[in-house]
Amino acid sequence: MKLWEGRFDKPTAADADVFNESLSFDKKLYRVDITASIAHATMLGACGMITQEESAVIIDGLTSILSDVETGSLPVQGAEDIHSFVENELVSRVGQVGKKLHTARSRNDQVATDMRLYVRESLDKVQSLLAALVDTLCSLASANVKYVMPGFTHLRKAQPINCAQYFNAYSEMFLRDLDRFAACRARMNVMPLGSAALAGTSYPINREITRELLHFDSISQNSLDAVSDRDFIAEYLFCASLTMMHLSRLCEDTILYTSDEFGYWVIPDEYSTGSSIMPQKKNPDIPELVRGKSGRVLGHLTAILTAIKGLPLAYNKDLQEDKEGFFDAETTLCNCLSIYTAMMSKMTFNVNRMYDAAGEGYATATDIADYLAKKGIPFRDAHAITGKIVRYCIEKNKPLTALSLKEFRDASDAFDEDVLSAVTTRASAEARNSVGGSSRSAAKAGLLSIKRRLKKYLN
Ligand code: ARG
Repeated sequence: MKLWEGRFDKPTAADADVFNESLSFDKKLYRVDITASIAHATMLGACGMITQEESAVIIDGLTSILSDVETGSLPVQGAEDIHSFVENELVSRVGQVGKKLHTARSRNDQVATDMRLYVRESLDKVQSLLAALVDTLCSLASANVKYVMPGFTHLRKAQPINCAQYFNAYSEMFLRDLDRFAACRARMNVMPLGSAALAGTSYPINREITRELLHFDSISQNSLDAVSDRDFIAEYLFCASLTMMHLSRLCEDTILYTSDEFGYWVIPDEYSTGSSIMPQKKNPDIPELVRGKSGRVLGHLTAILTAIKGLPLAYNKDLQEDKEGFFDAETTLCNCLSIYTAMMSKMTFNVNRMYDAAGEGYATATDIADYLAKKGIPFRDAHAITGKIVRYCIEKNKPLTALSLKEFRDASDAFDEDVLSAVTTRASAEARNSVGGSSRSAAKAGLLSIKRRLKKYLN
């Protein structure tokens, strides 16, 4: 039965029913919908809009529906949306009294409340998955703090860096994401229930009762805004997009670093795939898929902003379009976060290969320029002298570490014996001891700070 059929002479066409329905996807809201209805029925009873007995009968009915849906004995089907489904089922279980549940309520404030409850749960889940990922990155940083790897700019070897500093960089990104999701949660925990269709209600409701039962921090202050506000979904999708973008960058590094050409990391067999034709292949399908899936989440953000931007106040059916994109984004985000954490925790590292690679490509040339600058030569001149030394090495086909003191002195008499140790890979990484820099102690301090900030997100 449709909740609104009284006004119509003819039933809706079958294709219009199919086009209009949302039950096929909003059935995911069954638990939050029933929870909110139980709170609403409690409030109706407490405020005298229905009797305490009626309230108890309705709550019993709703509780039995919830448990039957959970166990799978009640299939969620045969109605326009989840709200109609629950109400129809309630009436068929408890009779006429079930029809009183919708007093002082509209599906407009009901669906807005359901979505907030659902998104809030999702935010909690995402935060714990993100915290687990940062925790894993911290373990990798700890385990690899002794090692040095190449640091890149423009995907060309730039300067040697500490391995822990590398993992810390991603931890910083994901910590910012955690803070962003937490801020989103704090802002969205406002209850729209009680706004009714758009203008509020003439019944003597007490919104404080439902607020408390549903654990909202506050109640909405404008009913027109409350029924049409989906900012929290757009904000969730923005936070999710940034997280997916960060993950996608980590994927790109993973794909490069595990290639034969780099050979820095080894993807665990359990998280690799093969080729149906080339027996030798070990493919990075998981990072490739995560990188690929980031596009759908970014797309859902664009879709919701576009759906909302032209809406006149207050509720419009366009808002039904908030759901499928959000559900897909949250599933994608959660799956990507958990698979990446699992894969990274089993990743192995060719630390010798990384160390050797860090010394290739004249990656310690900046250290020679810095050496000269510290002897009083203006940095621009020091840069030019070092450039000549690099050119000399390219001509002679030798690395900087193979140069003799005499060869250094031919370029500038400011060089002394100690330049020979300044150009080694490890010395180069160690030299950058500024806060957040590539030295071992700076990387350790960075890790400590990350762990301190992560603590509040670990349960
Ligand atoms: N399925 C609808 C949605 O998701 C529920 C609210 C319907 N309200 C209405 N006035 N038709 O937005």
